[in-house]
Amino acid sequence: MDYKIAPSILSADFGHFTRDVKRLEQAGAEVVHIDIMDGHFVDNLTFGVGVVAALRPETSLFFDCHMMVEHPEKYITEFAKAGADSMSVHVESTPHLHGTLQQIKNAGMKASVVINPGTSVELIKPVLSMVDMVLVMTVNPGFGGQKFIPETMEKVAELSAIREAKNLNFEIEVDGGITDETISLAKAAGANVFVAGSFVFKGNVEDNIKKLKDQLN
Ligand code: DX5
Ligand code: ZN
Repeated sequence: MDYKIAPSILSADFGHFTRDVKRLEQAGAEVVHIDIMDGHFVDNLTFGVGVVAALRPETSLFFDCHMMVEHPEKYITEFAKAGADSMSVHVESTPHLHGTLQQIKNAGMKASVVINPGTSVELIKPVLSMVDMVLVMTVNPGFGGQKFIPETMEKVAELSAIREAKNLNFEIEVDGGITDETISLAKAAGANVFVAGSFVFKGNVEDNIKKLKDQLN
C-alpha cells in the first residue's frame, strides 16, 4: 500500500488555514487530516463543517475528517456536501457503527473506523470488511503534542495480520505523537497513513514532511 503523510491542521495557524494547507500541498503531503472535536466526546473544541467547506476550493488534497464527536451520524450529509473525502468515526462514539459507516459510503465518501488506545481490535472486527481505513489512535484523542503510546503498535500489527489472512484491503492510519522516530515503529507494525500535527508545523513544514518521508523510504 502507498505510504501517505497526513498532516493535522489542529497544529496549523487557525488564522491562516488556507495558507497552511497550500503549504502542505507544496511540501508533498498526500492528505489533510481535519480534527473535528465537539467538547463532549473529547474535552476540546475545534471547528466544524464550515472549515471543510472553506478549504475545499483551495486544494485538491484528500480531506480526511477525524470525527471526535458524539453522534457522528448527524453530520454525514453536510460533510459530504462540503467536500470531505472521508469520515473516520470512533467505535466508542456510536452504538450504530455499521449503519453509520454504511451511510458514509452511501454519501459517496470513504468510511473509516477509529479505536482509542484503550479499545481492542475485537470491537471493530465485524466492520473490517466494509471499511476503507482503520485509524488506530496512538494517543488519547483531544489534543495535539502528546506522547506516542508504543503498546498501540500491537493493534496495528494485529490488524495488518487480519487484513492479510482475510484478504481485505483497508488502509491503516496512526494518529498521535508521530515524529521522525515513531513513524518507523508504525511503519514496521504495518501502518501506511501517518497523521502528524505538532511535528509538521513546528518549524519548517517542508523540511519536517521530508524528514517523515525519508523514514519511509
Ligand atoms: C488528537 C488528534 C490528532 C492530533 C495529532 O486528538 O486526533 O490528529 O492533531 O497531533 P500530534 O501529531 O501533535 O500528536
Ligand atoms: Zn486526528
